[in-house]
Amino acid sequence: MTRRPTRWQESGFSANYGRRFAELIAAGEDVDGEARLADALLPRGARVLDAGAGMGRVAAALLRRGHDVLSIEPDKALVQQARETYPGLPIEERDILSLGSDDGLFDLVVCVGNVVLYLAEGTERAALAAMRDVLGENGRILVGFHLEGRPPNAREYAVAEFEADLSAVGLRVNLRAGSYELHPANDDYGVWILSRE
Ligand SMILES: C[S@@+](CC[C@H](N)C(=O)[O-])C[C@H]1O[C@@H](n2cnc3c(N)ncnc32)[C@H](O)[C@@H]1O
Repeated sequence: MTRRPTRWQESGFSANYGRRFAELIAAGEDVDGEARLADALLPRGARVLDAGAGMGRVAAALLRRGHDVLSIEPDKALVQQARETYPGLPIEERDILSLGSDDGLFDLVVCVGNVVLYLAEGTERAALAAMRDVLGENGRILVGFHLEGRPPNAREYAVAEFEADLSAVGLRVNLRAGSYELHPANDDYGVWILSRE
């Protein structure tokens, strides 16, 4: 199926993002913040989907913590980088919109690092619904994105609009915070934990 290009594809930001994370990892910087929160939400050995995994840092950190992780990422160069950086990381070159019953069910879908700001225009509700449909019983979605200081070509996604889209697809907000360390909600960054209605 031909799909509209994602805002990420249109941004041309892939190489910069890939290089930046390669440098951070080489310098021994902490790039596991999102994964630590995800891990705290999960029983041991849980099934996790990293939706829009980029170069695989979050998925790799969850794999190291003993979870059964699938990552999907449509950007070919980032999939390649993930395979080179984390040999053995399960990663497929795929779009969130391709998720379906063949993928099974997940305890947690991780969709962090501005993925929702880079979806193809007009596909936000479809992408949220696709992630909802692969949630197991008591499954949850962890989403995070910039509300201010967005990176290049990322859309603006106001809290009210995002939460209206969640309601429209039958997702409930369990928690909204301002960081992956659960600082109070603020106007700069949004972190949500979601479940099915
Ligand atoms: C800023 S990167 C973040 C990557 C990763 N989640 C991280 O935090 O390191 C944004 C990612 O969203 C992905 N993305 C955008 N639209 C997508 C879609 N429809 N399905 C899957 N991934 C998508 C892009 O390909 C890109 O890798």
